[in-house]
Amino acid sequence: MAILVTGGAGYIGSHTCVELLQAGEDIVLLDNFSNAKPQVVNRIKELGGRDFPLYAVDILHREGLEKIFAREDIEAVIHFAGLKAVGESVKIPLDYYQNNVSGTINLCQVMARAGCKKIVFSSSATVYGNSTDVPFREDSPLSTTNPYGSTKRMVEDILRDLCASDPEWSACLLRYFNPIGAHKSGLLGEDPNGIPNNLLPYIAKVAVGQLEQLNVFGNDYDTPDGTGVRDYLHVVDLAIGHLKALDYVRTHKGAEAINLGTGRGYSVLEVVKAFEKASGVTIPYRIAPRRPGDIATCYADPSKAKKLLGWEATRSLEEMCADAWNFTRRQQLGDSL
Ligand code: WQD
Repeated sequence: MAILVTGGAGYIGSHTCVELLQAGEDIVLLDNFSNAKPQVVNRIKELGGRDFPLYAVDILHREGLEKIFAREDIEAVIHFAGLKAVGESVKIPLDYYQNNVSGTINLCQVMARAGCKKIVFSSSATVYGNSTDVPFREDSPLSTTNPYGSTKRMVEDILRDLCASDPEWSACLLRYFNPIGAHKSGLLGEDPNGIPNNLLPYIAKVAVGQLEQLNVFGNDYDTPDGTGVRDYLHVVDLAIGHLKALDYVRTHKGAEAINLGTGRGYSVLEVVKAFEKASGVTIPYRIAPRRPGDIATCYADPSKAKKLLGWEATRSLEEMCADAWNFTRRQQLGDSL
């Protein structure tokens, strides 16, 4: 039996596929390549040490999904596929609801018909919205402030209702905090199209001279140095969290929301300093106005993941920055993707 990884060529999906293969799991990779490079698939095979079926399918395409479940013996699904840019979701909300919500409904309907009722879902800490109830626990109040976050919250509700309607279903709703970093080999990493929205890939492009300077969005927040505080976690730690969640849905029924974070917050300026130390490169920056929608502080209470999954993040901020820098340099040399 195999694990279907939707969005498997994406940033977190690709790192998860490598960990699955290295753990001896058989996988089937689905991606529509709207936000992933086809070369990533070869990197996954190289690092995972094994081949696997690949389907260039959109989760909105029911016939394409049905073909996969007819041809492959799918035991469970790790579901990454979806649109994920907060700012973009405000501009094109219907695309986000269609892809993230309708796409997931489509997937679950095909899964149910095939008798496949185990899912690990890529949710997000964004569901905690602008709450100040930090550290966020899974029973903290949910409030979303953008369409992207609303799609994640809606899909969590849909999966809870699905599990309540049929006791055969099991679902882990993984709420990621801020994934950063790259595979130690430098062959996989965060490679967004265009100008990065997120802090780490932006800093990396400044470090290699592709961008002039970092804009620090506000230094007047109620935080130790006035800049935004976030819970950054290494993408490989996050990937390993998915393998633990897969084991959990294999042995438990029902729906569980689980935070995947380190439980430690770092400010923008602390991240800049850590990246400068890891890279040996000075990162020029200026203080810019706050970014609309940003909150001051966001970090996890990761105790439920430790208790239920036996998972905790192990990699340091310095290691995250060193691995991100290594990936970026290898990209510069043209041998990553
Ligand atoms: C981090 C900090 C910014 C860029 C988002 C999504 C979240 C998840 C991760 C999908 C903040 C500051 C950033 C820059 C800056 N994605 N910053 N200059 O906003 O915490 O989370 O990405 O699930 O859902 O909301 O991440 O990396 O954009 O920002 O000063 O050029 O860095 O203000 O304090 P964020 P981020």
